[in-house]
Amino acid sequence: MKKIIIANWKMHKLRKEAVDFVENLSAQKEVDIAIIPSFLALRDLKNAAPKEIAIGSQNMSEHSHGAFTGEISASMLKDVGADFVMLGHSERRKIFLESNDVITKKVERAVVENMPFVLCVGETLDERELGETKEVISVMLDALSALIGSHWDLVTIAYEPVWAIGSGKVATPDIISEVHNYIREKLLEFTPEKGEGIRILYGGSVKSDNIAEILSIDNVDGALVGGASLDPLSFNQLINEVSI
Ligand code: PGA
Repeated sequence: MKKIIIANWKMHKLRKEAVDFVENLSAQKEVDIAIIPSFLALRDLKNAAPKEIAIGSQNMSEHSHGAFTGEISASMLKDVGADFVMLGHSERRKIFLESNDVITKKVERAVVENMPFVLCVGETLDERELGETKEVISVMLDALSALIGSHWDLVTIAYEPVWAIGSGKVATPDIISEVHNYIREKLLEFTPEKGEGIRILYGGSVKSDNIAEILSIDNVDGALVGGASLDPLSFNQLINEVSI
């Protein structure tokens, strides 16, 4: 399966910075590249980026439209050119208190709207130390129950251990391998036919000096990169590591 590197810019970069970044980024044959900017830079970035680079949104409302002040719908995202949406990032879960129930509704909305999505899952340090990692991930993956029977082509999973995000602590290859194999098993339970073809990305302190090792692990089909995706030089370096 072709690997994908997704840059999650979080609350960084004004429109001009986003456009300057992408103008210095060349699409690669060996690896797919996607960028998730702020909502407000989506349109400019989509217009400036080579068409091979997918542009995603960091969040989306579970509602189609209506009296939901401050929210952004799937059709609004499509209207500005978003190719996909990221759902359930740990910062949404932890800081903005998005529950599994809400994230499940967002997954259902994405399915109804035919919007490709990356579902983020991962355990906290406490949950890992209590031996609850697989249980926590299994419950988060239950958000996919709505998909049974159809739409699996919309799905990408990102395993992001919360303790590894922005902390400089990368999960060990053993941990990554164990969790990714577990996620693959669960996907195959959901869909024996499509489960093998769904990408499972790793995220959490991925940098140019660890990306090659991480991507060499079985069932790791790409990476979701935060901090190291902000500087064009370090992101280009990281992409080059994958393309070697
Ligand atoms: P990080 O963030 O690469 O800075 O750890 C990853 C993420 O939050 O997606």
